[in-house]
Amino acid sequence: MSADTQSRFSPGDLVQPGRVHKRVYTDPEIFELEMERLWRRTWLYVGHESQVPLPGSYFAATLARQPVMMLRHSDGSVRVFYNRCAHKGAMVVCDESGRVERLRCAYHGWTYATDGTLLHTPQPEGYAGCGFGAGHRESSLRPLGRVASYRGFVFASMNPDVPDLQEWLGQTRATFDNAVDRSPEGVIEVTGGVLRYVHDANWKILLENVSDNMHPMVTHQSAIQPVRVLRRDLPRDAEIPLAVTMIEPFGGGYDFFDQIGHTVCGEGHSYTGGSLSIHSEYPEVPEYLAAMERRHGAERTREILSVQRHNTIVYPSMSLKCALQTVRVYRPLAVDRTVQETWTFRLKGAPGALLERAAFYNHLIFSPASIAGNDDWEAYHRIQQGLVSQGSDWVSQHRHLDTVTENSEGSRSAPGTSDIVFRHEFAAWKRYLTAEA
Ligand code: FES
Ligand SMILES: [Fe+2]
Repeated sequence: MSADTQSRFSPGDLVQPGRVHKRVYTDPEIFELEMERLWRRTWLYVGHESQVPLPGSYFAATLARQPVMMLRHSDGSVRVFYNRCAHKGAMVVCDESGRVERLRCAYHGWTYATDGTLLHTPQPEGYAGCGFGAGHRESSLRPLGRVASYRGFVFASMNPDVPDLQEWLGQTRATFDNAVDRSPEGVIEVTGGVLRYVHDANWKILLENVSDNMHPMVTHQSAIQPVRVLRRDLPRDAEIPLAVTMIEPFGGGYDFFDQIGHTVCGEGHSYTGGSLSIHSEYPEVPEYLAAMERRHGAERTREILSVQRHNTIVYPSMSLKCALQTVRVYRPLAVDRTVQETWTFRLKGAPGALLERAAFYNHLIFSPASIAGNDDWEAYHRIQQGLVSQGSDWVSQHRHLDTVTENSEGSRSAPGTSDIVFRHEFAAWKRYLTAEA
């Protein structure tokens, strides 16, 4: 009997050396198990502290399909609660963000402090002696199991027994450090709106696309070709348009992407690049360099800007692009439905040109007007549809199966066109999904 026809499944059997069973992307039962054993047991990215700048500021989001809110308490601490009234369960905040002195549920008016404590219920005498209502802990907003932040990036877990956040982030911490160090004032803040789309594909297909360096030269051919023609026809001394600088490396060739490389570390985390990336050749912005050197000195500035981690994946919920001040967040809705968000950061103390560059990249690559992102969206759709077929039960992850370098600090590296990141993510996936307790 094939795994496809078994009524019971073992998630461990679906991940094999160099391949995974298609059910990991298509089976609603597997998806539910992922929510329970992976997404609700590990750290998930909630948002950045700058999204709740003042006491009473809140940001509402969905983690593992559950409504939550990040809230800044009057003492300045950042809390994360389930967005669910302790009375009859209504969501307490419905706007994505805002600021309140107290939280008042719109249904029966139960009112909470910004630390979640229930302050008031109308007609409280009706609750006298019943162990429920103001003064009782279970009548307050329920916090998530753990909340912690690293360099302003707030993570939460529904599982109180997760490892320490810094330990769990491991070598990806250097990416967060670099994201913040790129600010001449050492401060970054979320700015502008969010690019948010619902894709008709499994969340892992979206996440894998970020590290799939065998696809840009093919999937984005229709963007690369006209850029090449444009570049060829430019007068010799003409300034190269930024769009050309940004799109051209997508067609950089397999050797170029191999040279960029992948490094995998920790529980499913990874980063692409290190000393080289598709963003390496962006022109310098002299006022920015000057501002950085004023703060850090020339040598440290060079060191910070030479970190070329092109995409860092903090498995399973986010990816971070330092050079372009961008975070992408993944929010699974169903086995074949995923929200993908792109948030942009402003580097405090940096000239506006840096933010303009980030916004331009997002427009060019991630927005509905993108000439490249739409290709990826079509690929997500085609993969999800193709996997439903009976063409095969298995999805290949064989590329460079044995071409792996063990690094001294416990991470492993491979050529940039390797499938190592997918294998590493599924090794973590298997550990989470086979751990019952
Ligand atoms: S459901 Fe919130 S006050 Fe009743
Ligand atoms: Fe792409």
